[in-house]
Amino acid sequence: MSTYPVLQKKVQRMIQENIETRETLQRICSLLRDEIPHYDWVGFYFANHQTKTLHLEAYSGDKTEHTQIAFGKGICGQVAETNRNFIVDDVRSQDNYIACSVAVQSEIVIPIFVKGVNIGQIDIDSHTPRAFTEEDEAFLEFVCLEVAQLYV
Ligand code: SME
Repeated sequence: MSTYPVLQKKVQRMIQENIETRETLQRICSLLRDEIPHYDWVGFYFANHQTKTLHLEAYSGDKTEHTQIAFGKGICGQVAETNRNFIVDDVRSQDNYIACSVAVQSEIVIPIFVKGVNIGQIDIDSHTPRAFTEEDEAFLEFVCLEVAQLYV
């Protein structure tokens, strides 16, 4: 496993490479899932503010049928409305949760902002309970700031 500072540099380099946006997102998903043992599924959803839906743009991990999520639904849909980080230590404790796999125990969702608008989010699932710490939160906020640069 690479350390978070090393991964930050790698993400920064991927953003600067100036390749197609979806390919960049895909590479970031693969990097994070490959390098961080407790990241079992990594994906980016982006918002359509007209239809109030989130759309899966890139992911690494098991295929999911939840490629489109309405604002307000599940952990992701809630973050689309609250504009706040959401860490779930135990997904079974959540009534408003959309299960992608029975193996998932915990989840973190961090919004991506461009000029103050919540344009999307990174969503990570873990098969480990209480997998996500403040360190993950800070690291993923960094990743989201970097990804936001692709959308300015
Ligand atoms: N668990 C998410 C749905 C997306 S999957 O994790 C891929 C949620 O409750 O919004």
